[in-house]
Amino acid sequence: MCGIVGYIGKREKKEIILNGLKELEYRGYDSAGLAVLKDSEIVHFKAVGKLDNLKEKTKDFKSDGSGLAIGHTRWATHGKPTELNAHPHLGKFSYVIHNGIIENYQELKKELQEKGAVFVSQTDSEVIVHLFEENLKNSKPFEAFEKTIKSLKGAYAILLITKANPDKIFFAKNLVPLIVGKNSQDEIFFSSSDAPLINLAEDVIYLNDLDYGYAKKGKIKLFSNGKNKNLEFKKLSVSKLSAQKEGFRFFMEKEIYEQSAVSSETIMGRINENDIILENIEDDFFEDIREITICACGTSYHAALTASYLLERISKIKTTVEIASEFRYKEPLLLKDTLFIVISQSGETADTLQALKMAKNAGLKTLSICNVDNSSIVRLSDKTLLTRAGIEKGVASTKAFTTQVLLLWILSLKIALLKKEIDKDFFKKEVENISKVPTVLKVDEKLHEKIRRLSKRYLHGHGFFFIGRDIFYPLSLEGALKLKEISYLHAEGYPAGEMKHGPIALADSKLFTIALMPKSLLYDKVKSNVEELSARDATILALSPLEFEIADDFIKTKGYDHPMLEFFEMTVILQLLSLEISVRLGNDVDMPRNLAKSVTVE
Ligand code: G6P
Repeated sequence: MCGIVGYIGKREKKEIILNGLKELEYRGYDSAGLAVLKDSEIVHFKAVGKLDNLKEKTKDFKSDGSGLAIGHTRWATHGKPTELNAHPHLGKFSYVIHNGIIENYQELKKELQEKGAVFVSQTDSEVIVHLFEENLKNSKPFEAFEKTIKSLKGAYAILLITKANPDKIFFAKNLVPLIVGKNSQDEIFFSSSDAPLINLAEDVIYLNDLDYGYAKKGKIKLFSNGKNKNLEFKKLSVSKLSAQKEGFRFFMEKEIYEQSAVSSETIMGRINENDIILENIEDDFFEDIREITICACGTSYHAALTASYLLERISKIKTTVEIASEFRYKEPLLLKDTLFIVISQSGETADTLQALKMAKNAGLKTLSICNVDNSSIVRLSDKTLLTRAGIEKGVASTKAFTTQVLLLWILSLKIALLKKEIDKDFFKKEVENISKVPTVLKVDEKLHEKIRRLSKRYLHGHGFFFIGRDIFYPLSLEGALKLKEISYLHAEGYPAGEMKHGPIALADSKLFTIALMPKSLLYDKVKSNVEELSARDATILALSPLEFEIADDFIKTKGYDHPMLEFFEMTVILQLLSLEISVRLGNDVDMPRNLAKSVTVE
């Protein structure tokens, strides 16, 4: 993971780097660092923990006038989050920042140590700077950089600066994102994503894998495989993404409350009484498709699982769901008449991106469901449907999930229409229900208050089971994941009917069971499963529109007639429950420990 930024220009460099890193903090916040090269002198700072610590350390440092700067925010992969492991990594006269994993770092390190290099960190990244300085003994700086990149195996976005060539930033990219931008004032910027570049760069290049080069004031040189490449700039077309909390305590809370509004955006222009219109996707894209495989990670995987029920039930198309990190190495059978769908909030998740590449290489049609336009996944897939949730800052995903599920519901209907699996009346009713989603997702403040009070009871105990059936099973997985992510309490999602095959052995009063009991889908079946747990003293919190006396706690839902509407209503309740438990435990809701919003390592 990690976020990297770079700048060449006259403005106060520290500010540009710190502001850029703020936008990238979602990519990791174990430590941060920056280096400024001016008049052949390099000054650097590093601080463990969130960016504010680096801000504090650099508060008296000034860095305006000519020169260049690089900055990094880290999510630890190799080595603990210490200052020595923070980037930039130092050689004798060069500094490097790196996002990714250098897979052959141990052998390179050994060779370099034998030649006298002194390593101070436990990271894989440090090898880059020592290798560069070693290569510099016999080559000019750019050749030395080129040689260095050639020796690296793995994923990298690299910025390197050196006193040996003090007016340049050397850069390289493979498998993780790196963008270079410029503007009419001859300033040059680097970043791991669009957000830090907004209002600074006018034109950008989304670098391709194995691209490398260097930049100096007003000039960028790009290479691939030893050959000079043309610079193909695009206008930076993103509006200011820097979301604010707008009066809410946390971004996650704001994003839960935003779901009603953003779901309207997801629907907008895509449904009418007779048809579904998917922008930029012609109907014939879906022709000759006999199966669907959906691949994703984390919360997006739960959206995929939910969609598999819809695609089989409504569109009558066989659908397989894969966890991207498993899919990559299982030597999957990729059959040509399969539509390969990837789901990703960020569009940068390394495993999902690689799975997409495998599907493309096998000649499959690919479709991405994504929240970030221009992301690596969007650029690689044949077609994209954007979820339009707006920037999601909370590490625990909320509005991205609901918009993914909603969009996949719309997609299921489209495929069902094209395959003539549904009649007009059914379609009309579905469309009516889809248009109710924004209302269903509106947070009822009284209910939020009730959940806040209720959360007190659920702070201790020896674990949680979230249980449900059918689409409420993936929702139970998502409910458990939310709780784990921000409360650090052990939680599992389980199919309600499967509890008796093992997990029920754990039941006692300290086992908290969150039971999803919609009235519109398999109510009686779930009820029996919950009763079995209650008979063994498990503490039950039931979510249902139907009174359920044996529950220890009960959240009465509205009782919508459509399972998907009940699904969305319960999603909000589960999100609020984990939020309030996390708040009571005093955790950092938006930046929970050990996690990052965008995972660009495998
Ligand atoms: C990280 C995030 C999760 C997210 C997962 C997949 O682990 O913390 O919230 O669900 O990555 O991310 P994606 O951007 O591909 O949906």
